Amino acid sequence: MPEYLVLLAPSSNRVYAGDAPAITAAEAEIVVSAVHLGGVVGASPTTVAGVPYLAVELADAVDPRILGGLAATFAVFEREGDLLRPVEARGGERFDDDLLTIPKYPGKTNEQLTRVLLNVTLASTDLPDRARRTVLDPLAGRGTTLSWALTLGHDAVGVEVERREVEAYSAFLTTWLRRKRLKHRIGLTPLRRDGRRLGDLLEAEIGRDDPQSLVLFAADTLATAELLQRRRVDVVVTDAPYGVAHGSRGVRGGRDRSPADLLADALPVWVSVLRPGGAVGIAWNTHGLSRADLVARCGRAGLEVCDDGPYRGFAHRVDAGIHRDLLVARKPR
Ligand SMILES: C[S@@+](CC[C@H](N)C(=O)[O-])C[C@H]1O[C@@H](n2cnc3c(N)ncnc32)[C@H](O)[C@@H]1O
Repeated sequence: MPEYLVLLAPSSNRVYAGDAPAITAAEAEIVVSAVHLGGVVGASPTTVAGVPYLAVELADAVDPRILGGLAATFAVFEREGDLLRPVEARGGERFDDDLLTIPKYPGKTNEQLTRVLLNVTLASTDLPDRARRTVLDPLAGRGTTLSWALTLGHDAVGVEVERREVEAYSAFLTTWLRRKRLKHRIGLTPLRRDGRRLGDLLEAEIGRDDPQSLVLFAADTLATAELLQRRRVDVVVTDAPYGVAHGSRGVRGGRDRSPADLLADALPVWVSVLRPGGAVGIAWNTHGLSRADLVARCGRAGLEVCDDGPYRGFAHRVDAGIHRDLLVARKPR
């Protein structure tokens, strides 16, 4: 069985400390299984000439280029005895990575972690085969998930309650699109329905033929179904608020809603706009809400939680106050 060595980007050590190889191994198992069930025969950290790699053994039928799309992959090699043969393994990105790396602000979800969550959520859907999906981040902040969705060729929909976050993303994206000389249309306008002001709306179209679309509502996530009207999404990918700096705000006002309460109230709304067979991926701080509680809440919202094997391999420490985990669940068809 062919063995491949995945060289992880040095930045992955800063994101997950010592957990980067284990997290990438779990991601590989889920992403490869979506195209070839059981396609990852084994994955374990190894060192060659003093350099750490993740060694991945793939079933013969699996195209190793799939390893290039893992969030932390820097380079992939096939191991042939003592020699390493480079594998042409780009991750299918349409845009330069500075769309993800330039923005720096408090509360940003790390871009590698966001891609892991997007990768495993997309891989867990049970939808008809299509390269292009609609990705919703209903707690979008300044758009890390939305920018990844666009970079990987999907359409993006977001909801973010803080208008200044939407304005900041709008300003950044407008400058970035202009600077990259990409054909586009972008604008931030008030959103009214039936004479009522629902919030503001950032809309963009990118590309010449069959352009990709981005829509970001400056509004409360509990209004997602009303905002999207009849539009449906293929995946919901989101990083829940962690605490005071990014406290959650409900339509009933105030900052009195804990992240746990926000998730409990919002999950049924998000599920209502998700296509049957679509999937939800959530990153959250387990200090405020245990995995068992979130699993139960997803079950009550009508989701089937993917809770076995690699899906339990993502928990990691962020800092003294944050222990983060990822949960993926599917809407039955
Ligand atoms: C952890 S941050 C997400 C950061 C985002 N992934 C990024 O990289 O920019 C959580 C976001 O949820 C937003 N939020 C909190 N309560 C909300 C609500 N009720 N409706 C919509 N957004 C909300 C916060 O303003 C914050 O931007």
